[in-house]
Amino acid sequence: MISRRGLLAGTAALGAGAALGAVAAPALARMASGAAAADGLAPDAPTRRLSLFAGEMDAPLLGPGKPLTKRFCAYNGTPLMSWRAPQGTRLLVDFENRLPSATTVHWHGIRTQNAFDGVAPLTQKATPAGGTFHYEVPLLDAGFYFIHPHCDETGQVGRGLAGLLIVDDPKETAVFDLEHVVVVKDWRLGEDGQWLAPMSTDDGASTAGTFGTVRATNASTTPARVEAPAHGDVRVRLLVADSTRIIDFGSDAKDMALIACDGHALPPVHFDDLPDGVWRMGPAMRVDAHLRMPGPGEEAKLYDYRSAEPYLLATFVGVEAGQKAARPFRPQALRPCAAPQADLAHARTFDFTVQTAAGPTTLAPPLPDDDPLAKALVSSFCVGAKTFWAINRTSWAAGDDLRLPPPLARLNDGESCVFSMFNATKHAHPMHLHGHVFKVLSSNRKPKLPHFYGDTVLVEPNETVEIAFRAARGDWVFHCHILEHMDTGMMGWLEIA
Ligand code: C2O
Ligand code: CU
Repeated sequence: MISRRGLLAGTAALGAGAALGAVAAPALARMASGAAAADGLAPDAPTRRLSLFAGEMDAPLLGPGKPLTKRFCAYNGTPLMSWRAPQGTRLLVDFENRLPSATTVHWHGIRTQNAFDGVAPLTQKATPAGGTFHYEVPLLDAGFYFIHPHCDETGQVGRGLAGLLIVDDPKETAVFDLEHVVVVKDWRLGEDGQWLAPMSTDDGASTAGTFGTVRATNASTTPARVEAPAHGDVRVRLLVADSTRIIDFGSDAKDMALIACDGHALPPVHFDDLPDGVWRMGPAMRVDAHLRMPGPGEEAKLYDYRSAEPYLLATFVGVEAGQKAARPFRPQALRPCAAPQADLAHARTFDFTVQTAAGPTTLAPPLPDDDPLAKALVSSFCVGAKTFWAINRTSWAAGDDLRLPPPLARLNDGESCVFSMFNATKHAHPMHLHGHVFKVLSSNRKPKLPHFYGDTVLVEPNETVEIAFRAARGDWVFHCHILEHMDTGMMGWLEIA
């Protein structure tokens, strides 16, 4: 049994909506006044202890009556474990690695101190099998975060190692009748329910990625069917936790609005006003959407419209219990993101090109998985043994070189920066910057792109996307979140001193 001692409200995402909805409203965070500690919270900010372990288990991924999948990876024995806590809390995390291989914990999107960012070998050594690590995670910003390892991600996240953290804003005034979480994540399984080897193929890693064979939402092959008050207001939180898949998120409902990206508010945009009525999302991207329910007995469905046939993500059914009066749709605006922002008048601009790797693309000869060097790359360097991609002609751990590449840029703490990112490849790349919340300023190909804050932004072929942020001290990685792309070179780091 899982130890619940001092644990945050934990819920399984298998049936995420119901379980999450049942979580008691979090206590208001007491934002103490006075000087901040190094992590930005007050020294006496409220704390929560979290005992966290990564381990393997058997999981019913193919559904009832089908063989269990062995060696599924999960936190605390629960597929897609989810937690929630109030903004202003400091999480004290005692992590234990019960996996048979090294791992780390990365708090995707959260502005932690650099030492707790979980990036091996840059910010910590990978925690070996049986090892422990202590993380302190300040919840400075309300939002919707993604917990995952930053070591052999293709293998570990591919086999399920992922969690969710919802950080509630105690001052939030938007009110919803229901909240429902959708996690989009496929599995690469054979018909016997067991993992297909290899998890990554060279053809996939060097193109759009190796796709799963079984589509799933909330670790189920059957999309959720959720009852909600007719004409009521539903807050949908959607995370693409897949290693590879890019979706076009939308709904057949008359009224739905985008209200947050990566957990940070934007002025609401009705889906009718988005290009093609959808929001394109790559791996690690999150959104909050405000869905207005139709009348009693009527349904509203969420879809991925990028698939050849629209793929159903969830169905909401209007019920009489708690029914609201029919009324015009006014999307709810969340409170704006308070993360430090760039001063554009004084920002330095950096140009980045994401591209295919120029140099030798693989170790010669290609190493079998059990070769000692291949193992060393995976367990100490946390990457695969091949290189297909680069940023500004630099690949992470190129070839047989067990050294970090030089930083992509050296920035000053507190400095305002603009990153202009050009995609010179034939594939889309969700680019993620650690340790910061950036503002998306522009895209040369999407003139109507709304401005939004986030930590991950999709850059499509031939597109240049500009983002701005205020640099925070530390060594932070900057990479594509298609996990095979980052594992094969599309990752670099910034040195901010
Ligand atoms: Cu979601 Cu480098 O991480
Ligand atoms: Cu990519």
